[in-house]
Amino acid sequence: MREKIVAGNWKMNNTMEEGLKLTSEVVHMVEDESINQVKVILATPFIHLSNVSKLIQGVDNVYLAAQNCNEHKSGAYTGEISAAMLKSIGAEFVILGHSERREYFNESNQLLKERTDTVLNEGLRPIFCCGESLEIREAETHESFVCQQLTESLFHLDADSFSKVVIAYEPIWAIGTGKTASSEQAQEMHAAIRTHIAQKYGQEVANEIVILYGGSCKPSNASEIFAGKDVDGGLIGGASLKSRDFVDIIKSF
Ligand code: 13P
Repeated sequence: MREKIVAGNWKMNNTMEEGLKLTSEVVHMVEDESINQVKVILATPFIHLSNVSKLIQGVDNVYLAAQNCNEHKSGAYTGEISAAMLKSIGAEFVILGHSERREYFNESNQLLKERTDTVLNEGLRPIFCCGESLEIREAETHESFVCQQLTESLFHLDADSFSKVVIAYEPIWAIGTGKTASSEQAQEMHAAIRTHIAQKYGQEVANEIVILYGGSCKPSNASEIFAGKDVDGGLIGGASLKSRDFVDIIKSF
């Protein structure tokens, strides 16, 4: 049985007070509603991590993620955050290669390869984002585009390290647009990703890799999307900012 994961990516939202309120609400709902079969991950802005970490301590299935991490171990990189710092405050996951970072901060497959290594070397698990633009989808080259992202950033890993990676397929045209991929489109791409992984690492490894869907996922469409046999959960943006919506998505399995 593969893990099931629903991760909330807050992006650049929430003051400290708002973030802690949201965390408390999510924690209470997860406990009160006995949600224990899905790993819940909160990917908060850097400055919230340490305080959120304290609020989720002792809560069995709520975990902490950063939204990014520098590729260097430490040193003179003003304004950057290292994997060791993230680990020291209790983060267990790090989102890497979100399309917003690829686009606005020029993150390349090669850079993300380095960041993946840094994160794994620190014992953290990357949530590695991939996904195509509308232009690529319309040109029908989306499968090869996404497979290339995976090949260039992840396929240097040995099977053991690769098994720790969570993949998040987020078609760029579905992010924050209200236009979600259909459940067929999501399942089709997730299956293609799993096949690509199987070709490199074998079917056994491929069967264990968690592949999340992201892009305008909300309570009203989550169960249909999560029903895909290769869809193991979601990476949720906008809807993760409202505790009730986020928890309803978690309960959509
Ligand atoms: P939305 O759910 O707001 O479309 O964002 C998805 C996303 O980018 C999660 O990382």
